Amino acid sequence: MTEKVETVAALRARVKEWRSKGESVALVPTMGALHEGHMGLICAAKKKAAHVVASVFVNPTQFAPGEDFEKYARQLDKDFALLEQNGCDLLFAPSVAEMYPEGFATQIDPGPLAKKGEGAFRPIHFFGVATVVSKLFLQVMPDYACFGEKDYQQLLIIKHFVRDLNFPIEIVPVPIVREEDGLARSSRNVYLSAQERQTALVLSRTLRGTAEALRAGAETQKTLGEARDAIQNAGFILDYFDLCDPETLESLPRFPGVGRLIVAAKIGSTRLIDNWAV
Ligand code: PAJ
Repeated sequence: MTEKVETVAALRARVKEWRSKGESVALVPTMGALHEGHMGLICAAKKKAAHVVASVFVNPTQFAPGEDFEKYARQLDKDFALLEQNGCDLLFAPSVAEMYPEGFATQIDPGPLAKKGEGAFRPIHFFGVATVVSKLFLQVMPDYACFGEKDYQQLLIIKHFVRDLNFPIEIVPVPIVREEDGLARSSRNVYLSAQERQTALVLSRTLRGTAEALRAGAETQKTLGEARDAIQNAGFILDYFDLCDPETLESLPRFPGVGRLIVAAKIGSTRLIDNWAV
């Protein structure tokens, strides 16, 4: 049975009960509109800890004006049912007022990593993510917290501030869950028309093809150029397609034997991100 709580006090009461019995806790932070990708995290969390807490909170501070905060799917009953089916113990679904009381003024600055990749296009995004994730960590105080490689830069940033600020929490990375045809599962895929859904495949195909070409010794810049052309020719507005150091996200001019390909591109009004290990 999954239980739902909406306040920090009720959340802490339940976690305290588990703690008093010496039982471990894993946290899975989400913004809801849950899908198989999120369930990959619940599954990883269950393997790690005796109890799993999932949070569903569409965090306003990580959306800039004009992004999809208002339109972001809110479907708590469906989310609850999916969490229950997958054996999650506790759903924490706070209101905006519970998370950001009147006069809220403190922010976590995640440093230079937040300026690269996504940060160049969404300058406030990772400040909001780091702040809300820190709050969730302090509210739940889990032993483990699971994050998907789908949001690769987010995962790096969270690992970094957990280290910097000595959060006593093990960050568990979880591989990307994809549709059968390769499209990375995302809450934003529901925005895609049938035709856009077809075009969206170009992202994962290009990532895979580029990774194979680089491993086979193809010239880096020429290969990246061809990948960018393929994505734009398919009808995407490309924000970036780059080969990066997997830890610092520094752009790599030449493939040194290990790297991460990262991409963000817009089709119609939907912005998709994906990445691939090389
Ligand atoms: P959200 O986009 O709901 O994602 C919640 C978690 O699910 C993240 O760790 C994300 O990487 C993971 N996830 C989403 N799709 C995935 C997929 N296809 N495969 C594997 N993991 C996937 O990321 C956020 O919410 C927010 O920024 C949050 C961390 C909750 C802070 O507000």
